Amino acid sequence: MKTLGKSVRKAVIPAAGLGTRFLPATKAMPKEMLPVVDAPAIQYVVEEAVSAGLTDVLMITGRNKRALEDHFDRAPALERTLELKGDQVRLDAVQHASGLGPIHYVRQGEPKGLGHAVLCGRQHVGDEPFAVLLGDDLIDERDELLTTMMDVQAKTGGSVIALIEVEPSQISAYGCADISAIEGEDYVRVNSLVEKPSVDEAPSNLAVIGRYVLHPAVFDVLEETEPGRGGEIQLTDALQTLAAGEGEGSGVYGVVFRGRRYDTGDKLSYLKAVITLASERAEFGEDLKTWMKTFSG
Ligand code: G1P
Repeated sequence: MKTLGKSVRKAVIPAAGLGTRFLPATKAMPKEMLPVVDAPAIQYVVEEAVSAGLTDVLMITGRNKRALEDHFDRAPALERTLELKGDQVRLDAVQHASGLGPIHYVRQGEPKGLGHAVLCGRQHVGDEPFAVLLGDDLIDERDELLTTMMDVQAKTGGSVIALIEVEPSQISAYGCADISAIEGEDYVRVNSLVEKPSVDEAPSNLAVIGRYVLHPAVFDVLEETEPGRGGEIQLTDALQTLAAGEGEGSGVYGVVFRGRRYDTGDKLSYLKAVITLASERAEFGEDLKTWMKTFSG
């Protein structure tokens, strides 16, 4: 299984979660469809994959996720109406989502965790390195991350995770990595990983965020990975096995990201992400900022 230097073409986007943190908004609507200003959060993630040069997107969905497929599909009746009205701006916005390229879908029948969701992509991905993008994290399009990680994957032949420094009190919300510097390189070696440790158990304040470039050896490991934290099959646990292993496809590396990231995973972070991105919009950003300065609740 030689993958060193093989370029990454495929993106796997897990989108099967139940969205319980946003209930009741997500009772009948996927959380990935929550609007971030005027586009659903998932659209930003697909755009990021496409602009990193990934030409094949696989979404892992589940029950109640039909809106995702509809969003990235053509909408002939709506397009015709906008065309007749001469509303080119909205027509372009509608067509942009379906123009992002063909998206493939596979269902994760049961909510058995992120590791299991990634494993559902095995047949589609096959024997090549691939990217995983989690919808809760949005990476600013002006900052490089995925392409850097793809370069590190090609260079090392292992798997690559993205890390950020967090306040120690925050680490229990993330996977956490113990790392060592590699002389002369701007990426790090990951010695071990632990999913959502307590502050006392955490080996560092480096948190795993939702971008991965993985060697396909992860699939065999996931098949064998027992349920971990929360009774779910954890991607972090499979990566821990690869970090500790020595065979083909083992070795995990980290890229420490210092750019702009917007977390949409819980209500408060989501609101901050929406406000931050809205305040940068040419149409109303300045008005919004002026209003926020006067807002006292
Ligand atoms: C998942 C991963 C975790 C990672 C996080 C990043 O957790 O299991 O290791 O730090 O994504 O967003 P989740 O947020 O889905 O609970």
